[in-house]
Amino acid sequence: MHSPINELTGRLLKKFPGISLENAKVQAEELWAMPSFRISYVWTVSPNRYRSYERLNPFAAEYFAQGVLRRLGIGTASEQFICTAEQACALSGDFVVKFDPNGCTRNLSWNPGTIPTGWCLASRLVPDAASLFFVARRLSKTHPGRGGHDDRDEHAGRFYANFNPTPAEIEQMKLAMATDGVQYLSIAAARVFLGSTCTPHFGNILVTKSGKLISIDHTNAEFGDGEELKQMFHFIDRDSELCKILGGVASLTEDDILASAAKIPRHPACGSTGKLHDYFCQRLRLWKELYARP
Ligand SMILES: Nc1ncnc2c1ncn2[C@@H]1O[C@H](COP(=O)(O)OP(=O)(O)OP(=O)(O)O)[C@@H](O)[C@H]1O
Ligand SMILES: [Mg+2]
Repeated sequence: MHSPINELTGRLLKKFPGISLENAKVQAEELWAMPSFRISYVWTVSPNRYRSYERLNPFAAEYFAQGVLRRLGIGTASEQFICTAEQACALSGDFVVKFDPNGCTRNLSWNPGTIPTGWCLASRLVPDAASLFFVARRLSKTHPGRGGHDDRDEHAGRFYANFNPTPAEIEQMKLAMATDGVQYLSIAAARVFLGSTCTPHFGNILVTKSGKLISIDHTNAEFGDGEELKQMFHFIDRDSELCKILGGVASLTEDDILASAAKIPRHPACGSTGKLHDYFCQRLRLWKELYARP
């Protein structure tokens, strides 16, 4: 099987000009051996990354994603709604509010300290849960932080001020958060299917005290041409554990797509959803075909 070790080695040499070729190659091989890296290849090193695909309406993308994820047995935020900027301003601190700061409905994001504008998406804080980033950095101390995102992550940490798990619960959460574990990889696989350009980074996944991962933030997604799926399947060994995880999405049916699309509210913020249903049925057919290949 072709593996992009050489390409990865080149990227590492470029990123860390001080390291030797030999060292870069060893690191590339180590990265490539990690299932989480391999499944995330579409986001991290794919040359197609951020190609100008058409985007899904972000409100529709979030509701649709939650429908699909629940059908895959993956937890999602349980309470969310679309509201006006005025209604968003009146919400308590128990809600995370996302909106497009440019007043359009193209890019929804959480903008602490900015006055909401346009249609907003409000999501109630998941009880007894915190982001993987928060847990890794503050509780299990396994994460050093991630540069430019730190301010936002520090701010998001305020959501979890009353999150006080016991040492036993922290151990449980650490196990659940393993990036080579079934829960994490299932979320990563589902997000590839959803075309979510919000990668499964540690701010986009929560963990509950009882060790259940919750996938959040699926608003940024685009209509792909399927090439990235072909590439991903090409790089995943047929008899690997990771391949079995891809089988979760392959077990979905067109009825699941229909039922998930039906979860999108009939609301002006969501736009028209006809294209979304046909697109995901087609994407599911491709996924099944690639999964069934010997
Ligand atoms: N329902 C929720 N329960 C608990 N925490 C949440 C919830 N929704 C969002 N958060 C927290 O708020 C942060 C920002 O939310 P979200 O990821 O949806 O916004 P974003 O602007 O799209 O983020 P980014 O672009 O950094 O991925 C998350 O990293 C998480 O810490
Ligand atoms: Mg996010």
